[in-house]
Amino acid sequence: MCGIIGYIGKREAYPIIIKGLKRLEYRGYDSSGVAILNGELNVYKKKGKVNDLVEFVSDSNISGTLGMGHTRWATHGVPDDINAHPHLSGNNRLVIIHNGIIENYASIKLWLESQGHEFTSETDTEVLIHLIEEIQEKGQLPIEEAVRLALNEVVGAYAIVVIDRLDPNKLVAARKSSPLVVGIGKDNDYFLASDATPIVEYTNQVVYLDDDEIAVLERDKGLRIMDKDKVDKMPFIHEIDMKIEELEKGGYDYFMLKEIYEQPKSIAECMRGRFSTEEGWIRLGGILQHKNRICNADRIIIVACGTSWHSGLIAEYLIEELARIPVEVEYASEFRYRNPIISEKDIVIAISQSGETADTLAALELAKKKGALTYGIVNVVGSSIARITDAGSYIHAGPEIGVASTKAFTGQVTLLTLMALHIANEKGTISRSKYHELVAEIGNIPKKVQKALESNEQIKLISEKFKDAENALYLGRGYNFPVALEGALKLKEISYIHAEGYPAAEMKHGPIALIDENMPVVVIATNKSAHEKIISNVQEVKARKGVVIAVVNEGDEVMARIADYIIEIPTTAEPFTPLLSVIPLQLLSYHIAVMRGCNVDQPRNLAKSVTVE
Ligand code: AGP
Repeated sequence: MCGIIGYIGKREAYPIIIKGLKRLEYRGYDSSGVAILNGELNVYKKKGKVNDLVEFVSDSNISGTLGMGHTRWATHGVPDDINAHPHLSGNNRLVIIHNGIIENYASIKLWLESQGHEFTSETDTEVLIHLIEEIQEKGQLPIEEAVRLALNEVVGAYAIVVIDRLDPNKLVAARKSSPLVVGIGKDNDYFLASDATPIVEYTNQVVYLDDDEIAVLERDKGLRIMDKDKVDKMPFIHEIDMKIEELEKGGYDYFMLKEIYEQPKSIAECMRGRFSTEEGWIRLGGILQHKNRICNADRIIIVACGTSWHSGLIAEYLIEELARIPVEVEYASEFRYRNPIISEKDIVIAISQSGETADTLAALELAKKKGALTYGIVNVVGSSIARITDAGSYIHAGPEIGVASTKAFTGQVTLLTLMALHIANEKGTISRSKYHELVAEIGNIPKKVQKALESNEQIKLISEKFKDAENALYLGRGYNFPVALEGALKLKEISYIHAEGYPAAEMKHGPIALIDENMPVVVIATNKSAHEKIISNVQEVKARKGVVIAVVNEGDEVMARIADYIIEIPTTAEPFTPLLSVIPLQLLSYHIAVMRGCNVDQPRNLAKSVTVE
């Protein structure tokens, strides 16, 4: 998810664009750049935050009333000065910024190279501007027509802004699956941005572009919108009244809630291009790169911290059940200091949203030194862990701003599920029918997560009852035991209520002494294979006056008669349960924290990335 902005009008473009990029930095911040036209195309781009770009540009006097800016969240190509946007065409006549993914960029790039084009970056965006150039040159076309024809060749998601140096009174934009807003200023000013945050201080009149629409903003001629077949569209002008900080959060009160609701999309993004229900396959590039060594490993060791450690525990169940490879899950901070026994027959997987957690990084370096193959499962493209591992897979969850990890957790679990299935299929440790059944079901997960989110209002009511609790217990079995740990972590880190996660069967070995009418017990009871057992665990709690909130498969009438509160989630294959059973726990912790007046996005004492030991 990147931030893009464009401006055409009578004012100096540079200050408007820089200010707008700072408003958009929450969307991505690994590199940024600007392009201003004043006869020449002045392009400046820099790895780092927008302030690094400002420093870099500081000695240049950039004047011009037409320009664009981009703050990047890398998907193709590591964050550096070359891969940063904007990108120029080969003839230095055109410049583009882009938010999205061009899925067929590789084949287009090969064709363009056969036509003599040369590329400087690793990005899909640079391919697109060369394609627009090729089409424009061949047909001697106006820029908006060249853009339209090029986009008809493209598969993927995009929000783009394009400037043609030889057409200095025009700004062209287009969108498909990535947001793009047109701002209509008062004195013939026009703005373009990924959302309204950079626009609202200049105007509250906006037009939200729809998919396959192309906008042409022309000085003194105004706004024209056409579809991909060149049919003119009547722009619908909205009046916005949201405040800026609300806009950054997409209308949600906190980034954490926005990110909880992004999960159907972020899980789909994680799976995009990595599986096919129709053809029945799952493919992870990182696994294919080292297939033999991974499939013949003696052991898989997972090192991580916090929530990422919880997704590692889920991976232990997934990989051992499906791929039959022994798995050990280690707290990175412990692993790195206990002189572990590691051999070249081991695979060490590091799981990390930030890719910068000091303990996880150190554990990885130790594993590399001892000859293990290292694999990274990371969200931030080009982060330290992504760079030092022998192979890896990005979870493509987009920037996670809330300190409490939500969409990164489900992104990690999604990736690990794909990994377990990919290895299992390579090793033949599950039948073809089982494999195809699971590949088909995993494609249903995003919409089942969407369904699980529908319990939000009910969960908010339940939260009212428990917002003043001082302790809480989370119980789960099998795949849901790590989910119980994750639910407890969510509650304690944002509401400051002490909470513990336990295997449900472990109650009788001590924790049951804690149970009384003041102890809410959250039980994740979706297991089909151990349903009777978890029913009896709940009865043990009830017998001691415990109050039970049960997360169950929809239609579980048995539990409905026993528990005090029931939260239903859609049924799915047992290995995929964590992706659904965690959703109510995220919402429960969120609402309780809000009711307790806590700062949900920046809880006390915590940082988003623990880069110190
Ligand atoms: C989770 O909600 C916490 N923010 C924290 O436990 C986090 O998961 C942990 O610090 C690991 O971070 P990483 O995934 O970036 O390595």
